[in-house]
Amino acid sequence: MKAGQVAVITGAGSGIGRALAQLLDSRGCELVLADVNASGLDETQAALKRKATIQTLDVSKREQVEALAASVEQQHGHVDLVVNNAGVTVHDTVEHVSYEDFEWVMNINFWGVVYGTKAFLPAMVKRKSGVIANVSSIFGIVGWPLQSAYNASKFAVRGFTEVLWRELKGTGVRAVTIHPGGIKTNIVRSMRFRRGSTDGANHDSTTRLFDKMARTTPAQCAEIIVGGLERGDKRILVGADAVMLDRLQRTSPTGYPSVIEYFEKRVEARHAKKKKST
Ligand SMILES: NC(=O)c1ccc[n+]([C@@H]2O[C@H](COP(=O)([O-])OP(=O)(O)OC[C@H]3O[C@@H](n4cnc5c(N)ncnc54)[C@H](O)[C@@H]3O)[C@@H](O)[C@H]2O)c1
Repeated sequence: MKAGQVAVITGAGSGIGRALAQLLDSRGCELVLADVNASGLDETQAALKRKATIQTLDVSKREQVEALAASVEQQHGHVDLVVNNAGVTVHDTVEHVSYEDFEWVMNINFWGVVYGTKAFLPAMVKRKSGVIANVSSIFGIVGWPLQSAYNASKFAVRGFTEVLWRELKGTGVRAVTIHPGGIKTNIVRSMRFRRGSTDGANHDSTTRLFDKMARTTPAQCAEIIVGGLERGDKRILVGADAVMLDRLQRTSPTGYPSVIEYFEKRVEARHAKKKKST
């Protein structure tokens, strides 16, 4: 990404969105940062050298995303990059997850991406230039217990975005899927925690486990994403865990859940042993 290029980032008030804003700001990009959390956006702005255009909005509200696209076009003239990044999750079983929680996740993670793509795409196609980067997850590649709504939303983002690979051929516009593995952000803290696993896990213990398991920092994640965008990658895997799980899924499309379970049990046993000895 070059100085003067215009980048729109949703979910820019925390985590990956904030780290991307910091990296693109250091490259001299003009930034448009959107999030539902106004104070998170203020904190991101405070971490930047240049003044960004800040917009508090809910990506699950189509009219708000469309209004953002119109105002960006007016203020900045064009957009070079849109990163549809805002996301949330709920921790519950398929049997028990409420429709309300399922819809909350789908509305933000999937519909937010659809609105963010469709709102910005026509002007990019007209200008024959631009990149739409949609944040899925490694959970858009492998299924995970207690993450059915999140998995469904992230598989949907992947399918929706991969369709654009061919549809946009020859238009000058590119669509990119981003699949981070575990990144040290606030995502588990904002998670709706409804049900523990059989070992009695709760929100605090799940958060502690996530913090231990998530090895990649938001800054490293942002470097990998921007590197992939600059190379022209269609799919960007972030972190050794994402690369490994993607390989495992391709090697054993139906056997991978048992392999993951086996390694998870070994990690849990190691943690339990460590806890006992301290
Ligand atoms: N952290 C990880 O391990 C991980 C792994 C794979 C994918 N991801 C994806 O990366 C993206 C960024 O997540 P993160 O890890 O930085 O989490 P985060 O919680 O730190 O940041 C998410 C941001 O999205 C914003 N947001 C939530 N709902 C919104 C809405 N309705 N409208 C606008 N903004 C909203 C939040 O306010 C927050 O600032 C998400 O799509 C997430 O699913 C994260």
